[in-house]
Amino acid sequence: MTTLTPGTKSSAVTPAASGRIFNFSAGPGCLPEEVLRQIQEDVFNIKGSGVGILEHSHRAKVYDRVLAETFEDFRKICNLPSNYHVLFMTGGATSQNFLVPANLKPQDQTADYITTGYWAEKSLEQAKVYGAVHEAFTSKDKNHSYIPTDEQIRYSASPAYVHMCSNNTIFGTEWHEIAGGKNTWRERIPKVPAGVPLVCDMSSDIYSRPVDFTKYGLVYAGAQKNLGAAGTTVVVIRDDLASKKVRELPWMLKYETFAKDESRPNTPPVFAIYVCGLVFKWILAQAQGGRHCLEVIHERNIRKAGLVYDAIDTSGGFWKGCAHPHARSLMNVTFKAPTPELDDKFCKESTAAGLDAMKGHRSAGGMRASMYNAMPEAGCKALADFMRDFAKKNG
Ligand SMILES: Cc1ncc(COP(=O)(O)O)c(C=O)c1O
Repeated sequence: MTTLTPGTKSSAVTPAASGRIFNFSAGPGCLPEEVLRQIQEDVFNIKGSGVGILEHSHRAKVYDRVLAETFEDFRKICNLPSNYHVLFMTGGATSQNFLVPANLKPQDQTADYITTGYWAEKSLEQAKVYGAVHEAFTSKDKNHSYIPTDEQIRYSASPAYVHMCSNNTIFGTEWHEIAGGKNTWRERIPKVPAGVPLVCDMSSDIYSRPVDFTKYGLVYAGAQKNLGAAGTTVVVIRDDLASKKVRELPWMLKYETFAKDESRPNTPPVFAIYVCGLVFKWILAQAQGGRHCLEVIHERNIRKAGLVYDAIDTSGGFWKGCAHPHARSLMNVTFKAPTPELDDKFCKESTAAGLDAMKGHRSAGGMRASMYNAMPEAGCKALADFMRDFAKKNG
């Protein structure tokens, strides 16, 4: 059995070499080839146990080890302090839309929402089930194509928390720092009122760049984009928030239950958590020449997205990027051709060329190329070349 160990480098996956195509799906997204190959072995027989990962009890020694390493590696990647818990929950990021207010927001206190896209709007809607909420900002006026400055956000007097979404998967915008009028692509958070916890939906950009979880009270992310397989949602939560009690809740809806029971109060999604564990080892293995793994991944993501943004910006106006240049996402590049007919043609022809799943979300139209951590640079290069060629033939 081969094992993924730090030092393993991502191979350049090409359609010709592996029989696979470049998958630009927004989620579930592509996984590293090494991870997929390890899964193939472990589904049959994991760690020499004679039993596959799908068949082991969640109380068995093999899973004890998988889980312990998964927690340990997640913490290692971000150097997470001991006053933060890592939870593996179910119900997707969507369930966090009600779990966050249910656990953190008293009925008579507001929570503030910064709605920069479709998913952030969903979060706001669900929070209303638990009483008053305040929309501190919305970018709806410009079809969610931008990210606000701090001056544009209006907080309420005393919110229980502020909720944001760091990467807007559908509209292709991401919070990041701007310095000297240029994108640094580094993590940026809004300036929230002192002492108010920041809650972040990081589903589509977690671990795509260095992240400091101590800036947040709670972060959640569905695993199926940058962390692993659908079926589990990672929650990073500060101690005081994990034990906060604002109302009576069923046992399985409390963060505290998952924090106390090592995320296995019942039968957990063993396979999805195991895949996260492999992806965490893959992330750690990306460290290079003394540079932190997330720095290396971030630089690669900047290069990857840069190839595609360059194809848009140098197309003489053929391609139109949907996001404001200062709000551009490194994970999801959204763009349109001059007409909806050409959008359709592009989607058909790119799929036929082995560049899959680029049709934009129904609420945004156009195209969306999702290039999560596991998308190789070769895929982005192939896409940029294809876009240039398409613009030449159809312009
Ligand atoms: C930013 C963001 N939040 C939430 C969701 C919903 O995630 P799930 O399907 O895990 O509930 C998605 C899904 O694409 C997303 O991109």
